[in-house]
Amino acid sequence: MEFSVKSGSPEKQRMSCIVVGVFDSRKLSASAQILDDASEGLISNLIRRGELEGLLGQDLLLHNVPNTLCDRILLLGCGKEKELDVNNFRKINAQMAKILDQRGATEAFSCLTELPLKNREIDWKIRQSIEAIEEQLYRFDQLKSDKQNSRRPLRKVVFSVSSRRDLPTGELAVRQGSAIISGIKLSKDLANMPGNICTPGYLAEQARSLGKTYRNFETEILEESQMEELAMGALLSVSRGSRESAKLIIMKYSGAASADEKPVVLVGKGVTFDSGGISLKPGAAMDEMKYDMCGAAGVFGAMSAIAELQLPINVVAVIPATENMPDGLASKPGDIVTSMSGTTIEILNTDAEGRLILCDALTYSQKFNPEVVIDIATLTGACVIALGGHPAGLFGNHNPLINDLLNAGKYSGDRCWHMPTWPEYKQQLKSNFADLANIGGREAGSITAAVFLAQFTKKYNWAHLDIAGVAWKGGENKGSTGRPVPLLMQYILNRVEENASH
Ligand code: BES
Ligand code: MN
Ligand code: ZN
Repeated sequence: MEFSVKSGSPEKQRMSCIVVGVFDSRKLSASAQILDDASEGLISNLIRRGELEGLLGQDLLLHNVPNTLCDRILLLGCGKEKELDVNNFRKINAQMAKILDQRGATEAFSCLTELPLKNREIDWKIRQSIEAIEEQLYRFDQLKSDKQNSRRPLRKVVFSVSSRRDLPTGELAVRQGSAIISGIKLSKDLANMPGNICTPGYLAEQARSLGKTYRNFETEILEESQMEELAMGALLSVSRGSRESAKLIIMKYSGAASADEKPVVLVGKGVTFDSGGISLKPGAAMDEMKYDMCGAAGVFGAMSAIAELQLPINVVAVIPATENMPDGLASKPGDIVTSMSGTTIEILNTDAEGRLILCDALTYSQKFNPEVVIDIATLTGACVIALGGHPAGLFGNHNPLINDLLNAGKYSGDRCWHMPTWPEYKQQLKSNFADLANIGGREAGSITAAVFLAQFTKKYNWAHLDIAGVAWKGGENKGSTGRPVPLLMQYILNRVEENASH
């Protein structure tokens, strides 16, 4: 999709469609009013006759409206003007994309950017529009023979800005939005790819290819023999039961003016299929465990967007990639392994594998002398029970980092919610035979998982995002959401801006 910005009156746009909002009840937005005046009341007449109330979700498509240069005008109901919020704004934009794509309007001039939203400026609206449009049109059909493409797909959206003065801001928002959605798309494609194709080796290849695509981007892949040398006994214990060999994927983007500037390190759980191992999962919806690499997918998405924008910052990605399978060599409940840090771990449940691969990746991350480390993982079903599918669980040992992530989540709409990691919870991880147990019982399962990780992150500022509830949707609309790429990108963009102002 091609996105751009333009200032100018809607009736003067030579486009296949102009999109404007109408509020409940029958209140025209500014651009709808302009089009109504130009067409001598055509729109208000239709509305008076009951064609459109302005309720959220309503639409009305008009053709050949007099005194305009466009083929069509799409009126979209926006609900009560005062009740317009971030979610509704996205819904209205998604609906626009759906209708245009179905109706063969290949290009649009969107005046939805004028809709009034508290504390949200034009750049935010443009970025959110881009995300909502692409979210609506995304399909994962690489593996389908019949692609069911729209005959005349939407190709181009031009966002209206109120004056020429807003053009530079708008153009930057388009650049950022486009980079973010290509990151989201990469993340979704990797996540939706089935486990027989998207293996640890496949992820490693993806990382290599990003290294070839972008400037200031290096990729390094550590093989199992190197993990052996590094004594990553926890990570290796998970991959022992799999025919696919584990990879530790390192991507380094060096965009800061100084190579010595401490990096942000992003660690992503990359379990390309989680069967549970010997503690085998039940069969229902087990296919969805191909999504157990969504942490890694999110890190891939963020890395590609950061590199696409060539942001002035240093970022390192560390992705432990492996399958978790049952096998004669697989870990058994009761096995004790030694992590890279030297801490011994009793594996009481082989299905709590995420923390085993992450603990070694987190210990390894120390070597980058990080400013902060953020790990992203589909870590616990318990997090889904606690928070549902709306926010990611946020844990950490450094309040400024936690606040930065909470704020980035609120602003981007890709929210997270802070959970405690108090020392009291550590008792649940006691083992009779090793330093730590890998499970903490039924209570507070997402917290005990985070507290397990906290034992390996004491030397730096750390946050953990449990994305088990937000990374994909099940059921009829099964598919990856691309989260938390928007959150990570907002965090990174805020950091870059913060650095620039000092
Ligand atoms: N990948 C799962 C977590 C998960 C399960 C995410 C379902 C989303 C939906 C993780 O490896 C896991 O199996 N965790 C166990 C931990 C338990 C054994 C302590 C879980 O949540 O049941
Ligand atoms: Mn598991
Ligand atoms: Zn898992």
